[in-house]
Amino acid sequence: MRHLAVATIGAVFLIAASGAALAAGGDVFEAKGCGECHYTQGPAREKTIDDQLAKKGPELWYAGSKFQKKWLTDWLADPKPIRPMKFNDLMVENPADHPKLSGGDVAAVAGFLMGLTSDAVKAGKVKPKKNPKGRQIFIKKMPCSGCHQYAGRKGKIAGGRSGPSLVDAGLRLNPDWILAYLQQPKVFKPVKMMPVFVGLLSDKDMLNVARYVANFKPKKSKKKRK
Ligand code: HEC
Ligand code: HEC
Repeated sequence: MRHLAVATIGAVFLIAASGAALAAGGDVFEAKGCGECHYTQGPAREKTIDDQLAKKGPELWYAGSKFQKKWLTDWLADPKPIRPMKFNDLMVENPADHPKLSGGDVAAVAGFLMGLTSDAVKAGKVKPKKNPKGRQIFIKKMPCSGCHQYAGRKGKIAGGRSGPSLVDAGLRLNPDWILAYLQQPKVFKPVKMMPVFVGLLSDKDMLNVARYVANFKPKKSKKKRK
């Protein structure tokens, strides 16, 4: 009985402590001005093209479902362009001037962002895999590669520049999020910036192309994982 009480108090304390860590990351997020360009509370707020164009940065309310924690942590400390072009712009190059975090702020904010998740993403659906069907969809059958960069033959960067780069997307994106995004784009991006493939691609082909994209990794890290 006494053990149970101690264990219960311990558990309550742990829950409270992890809540506090989240709040601290959220405080850093606001104190550093991140909230001026990113919103962190879902559901999606954009209703019109004007809403989309008014955004200064991508929405982060489902960051914990979209990103991989290791990538996010590294990127916050040393951000590199994801979109070849400036956000919401198709003429100007990405200025590569994203604010950086340092010291303890990196882990605190990464922890806060990883806690922001969406129920629309179901875990364990997509196993990254070399996938000839997915490749065919990405490169030939559908215009994915016309808008997204990826590592082509011998690692040479190929593909279009209007969408976010998918080079090494397998290190950045949660495989299950890629599928959820293809299946339910409106949950994440209610204002259409990418063609909707619902009805064009079968569920099976969405899974194939999600697996294919989730397997975009540098050659070295692919070997390591095997
Ligand atoms: C002046 C506006 C601005 C501020 C301030 C800002 N960001 Fe961003 N953020 C952006 C833009 C624009 C992008 C897209 C960058 C790219 O594609 O390379 C971005 C991308 C991101 C991404 C990747 C999102 C995605 O979907 O690709 C994360 C995570 C992020 N920012 C976190 C932060 C954090 C944490 C802070 C505070 C330290 C912050 N941002 C401050 C504008 C901003
Ligand atoms: C006409 C250009 C276009 C085509 C074709 C296209 N995309 Fe996109 N894609 C975009 C744009 C633009 C975004 C960013 C959407 C936003 O942030 O509002 C995007 C976002 C994405 C993302 C999320 C990337 C991130 O970091 O946020 C993935 C994954 C993706 N597309 C995969 C695909 C796949 C797979 C196909 C083919 C079945 C495809 N795209 C076809 C333009 C395109």
